[in-house]
Amino acid sequence: MASRKDKPATGPDISRRGVIAGAAALGTVGYGMRGEAQEQRPRPERHAATELPPEAHMRRQIPSYIGSATSRIDGRAKVTGEAKYAAEFNAPGLAHAALVSSTIAKGRIKHIDTSEAQKVEGVLEILTHENRPPMAGDDKAYKDATAPDEGSPFRPLYDDKIMFNQQPIALVVAEDWETAQFAASLVRIDYEEEPHVTDIYRERDTAVAVPSGSGAMAPPKPRGSVESAFAASEVRHSADYFVPVEHHNPMELFASTVVWDGGGKITVYDKTQGVQNVHDYVCNVFDMKAEDVRVMSPFMGGGFGSGLRPQHQVALAVLAARALERSVRLVLTRQQMYTVGYRPAMIQRIDLGANNDGTLESIAHDAVTVTSKYEKFYRQETGWSGLLYKSPNAKYVHRLAQLDLPTSCDMRAPSAATGVYALECAMDELAVALKIDPLDLRLRTYSDVDQNSGLPYSSKNLRGCYDEAAAAFGWSNRNPEPRSMRDGKELVGWGMATGVWEALQMPTAARVVLTADGNAEVACATADIGTGTYTIMAQVTADMLGLPIQNISVKLGDSTLPKSPVEGGSWMAASVSAAIGTTCAALTKDLLELARAVPNSPLADAKPEDVRLADGRIVSKDDSSRSVPITDAMRHGNVDHLQQEQLATPSKNEKYAHNTHSAIFVEVKIDEELGVIRVTRVVNAVAGGRILNAKTARSQIMGGVVWGIGMALHEQTLIDEKFGRFMNHDIAEYHVPVNADVHDVQVIFVDEPDEIINPLGIKGLGEIGIVGVQAVYRQRRLSRHRPAHPRPADHARQGAGDLSCACLPSAEELRPSRQFHTPRDSDRFEKRLIVAHDDQRAIVSPQASFHRFNGIDIEMVRRFVEDQERRRLQPAENAGETGTQQLPAAEARRRLQRSFRAEHEAGQRRPAGVFVTVGI
Ligand code: MOS
Repeated sequence: MASRKDKPATGPDISRRGVIAGAAALGTVGYGMRGEAQEQRPRPERHAATELPPEAHMRRQIPSYIGSATSRIDGRAKVTGEAKYAAEFNAPGLAHAALVSSTIAKGRIKHIDTSEAQKVEGVLEILTHENRPPMAGDDKAYKDATAPDEGSPFRPLYDDKIMFNQQPIALVVAEDWETAQFAASLVRIDYEEEPHVTDIYRERDTAVAVPSGSGAMAPPKPRGSVESAFAASEVRHSADYFVPVEHHNPMELFASTVVWDGGGKITVYDKTQGVQNVHDYVCNVFDMKAEDVRVMSPFMGGGFGSGLRPQHQVALAVLAARALERSVRLVLTRQQMYTVGYRPAMIQRIDLGANNDGTLESIAHDAVTVTSKYEKFYRQETGWSGLLYKSPNAKYVHRLAQLDLPTSCDMRAPSAATGVYALECAMDELAVALKIDPLDLRLRTYSDVDQNSGLPYSSKNLRGCYDEAAAAFGWSNRNPEPRSMRDGKELVGWGMATGVWEALQMPTAARVVLTADGNAEVACATADIGTGTYTIMAQVTADMLGLPIQNISVKLGDSTLPKSPVEGGSWMAASVSAAIGTTCAALTKDLLELARAVPNSPLADAKPEDVRLADGRIVSKDDSSRSVPITDAMRHGNVDHLQQEQLATPSKNEKYAHNTHSAIFVEVKIDEELGVIRVTRVVNAVAGGRILNAKTARSQIMGGVVWGIGMALHEQTLIDEKFGRFMNHDIAEYHVPVNADVHDVQVIFVDEPDEIINPLGIKGLGEIGIVGVQAVYRQRRLSRHRPAHPRPADHARQGAGDLSCACLPSAEELRPSRQFHTPRDSDRFEKRLIVAHDDQRAIVSPQASFHRFNGIDIEMVRRFVEDQERRRLQPAENAGETGTQQLPAAEARRRLQRSFRAEHEAGQRRPAGVFVTVGI
């Protein structure tokens, strides 16, 4: 629709100047944009990466941006701190809130005593379930777009019920943050405690089945007859796998700044992956009108799925702002972040029935995952197994262990990062049993159709991934003999795995405003969680409009913008690109109308399908000499801007399956004396359709690989079963990979043209990078370097070198099957490591362990061990802290053993904490 100067467009003024003046600080991002409007604004409003005037670009041929390695248009804003996160927006009279969290896992609040806290100067209000303003009383209001179908979403400060440890139970609002925090520490709570269960193993047998075929996330329907096929197979391989609870730990803390706009209106700056999802949630929970709530999230310091659901800090901050009729900010502490969701722990069993020739007869995948008592969260955990490899028989079982924990949630490649891990370990172990090269086994079972649905793929170049990754890695030089490859003191292991993820698209809208000076703004309510959405939106718009990318500005993360789903599921690139494509096609039509009206127009007879936009012109597809400059067409038409907004809905194409795939090859080096493991090389080759931006795409995959290393070696949330509480709830104790843990990572994108999936052939890359990475690592450890399953105790001995070191058996250890046999195991025994020496004192170290040294110079570890030996483990200086005892070694060992046994027999997995000392 062309809007003319003499006839103002209806609705708000979104001419270029209006856009820049109103929204720049709120996340309009572009490279260039040093036009006149720009000059009128103070510097920080624009995030210019380059500062060329638009005209300079209009005179030359404009390259195609799609597919190029375009730098992030928000890069400068991010590194200079101009990009603001939710807790960085300010408002006059801003009050600060702090949470009081429960210290029990289950029960009810008997009494809350806020009298001490009330006395603190600067405290404005203390909200509890007893005095809070009204909130919705039905589950429906709390069901956001990504909430589990079944269950009652958590309602913060709703009533006296405690459903998980660290549940928010009171909110202190004060003039400043320090006062709020201090006053929060003075709130006293009396509880009526009930017994809780937070151990997945204890609920394993009572876990509730997810009915097969009951939805997209439910286990697929079985095919064939797994029982008889498995029984008749020449080779059978069965194994159990475990994945612990893991947490997202994004850099940015969850936070909401609620700006009280007066008259009951609010603007909420929230850390979220979906502003419209939060908008609708806030409106429903507080019975507010849609136009009275605006949710903004222009930048996000990582989400990884934790920001898909509206989290309790946003409900609480809005609650406080409404109670005080004042602007309020609530920032969760890092510890409190652990209650907003986690990757569910998962017990899995895979049964593979195979023939000696390396073909599969049957696949069975049985999984138990964790959710809360109040909601049933689950994803498609098991279906990947039957989908990927050719097998006539397949069967799935998925059950939910409902624990007294917060509801689990999506975390990068939810279900595949865990389910494919088990499948790939099993395939690898099968390869060993069959004496077939693991890559060869994957090729013998390769499928060109989705084995679950039987549908052919719109595209699948997993073969290309295998070929290119194997060549880049040098797989043909592998010696399959266990323990055959060494590098000095280190054993060398090579492994590989397959990755698979979805290629989804969601209905999404975009608005494009083109101004007569040849600049354009593209807007959509999506988030950019760090994946590069700003940049690809600019790239696609630039190509579609035939304009230099410097002339494009991007606006997102605002609930008032055109419709977007949450940014997740790796669907945003394909979805928003389709929206931009559709919108720009409509704009092209409008432009052609103007171009045809230009005197002596070379396009007078052209139809919309005959033209395209390129190099700043409306050009005939058949004859590029016939063209009209965009700016001329608009000036002649006396139009200062054109605007279009279109919704793109993916067509329901039920004839094809859509997935992304990858092949990962990994080298690990293991110091047998110290038990230190290094992932020295990773090659990840990805088939993800058309790659929109070679640079951001590579970063996405690298990030996935780093996280895969974290999953395999470092990450694990430990639960103190006694208190039902996450123990290592900070980044010091929850280990994520650091630079020293990550060595050579190579990312390859294989060609995968796909004309069926969408016009641009985009599949999305947000999650495929992590899938499979953790599997390769584990396999090497087990089948190659440790013929027998090592126990943590062995590991401890090995790790401790010649120290006399005892690690007592734990309940986990007594289980027939174990998870990652890696330094992360030492995570477990670091809480119970006894280092004893002759007649010296025993030292039980809760913190220091060899796990700590992973990622640090190995020589340093060696020196450390030798030093300990020399010092004969003198009693620690800080012994005597709370709960600390020093005991003779033999007595210490005896008491701990007794404690472990008792705990185990009682069905608990943690020692009672007989003694905890010190600081080696
Ligand atoms: Mo992703 S776990 O869908 O943010």
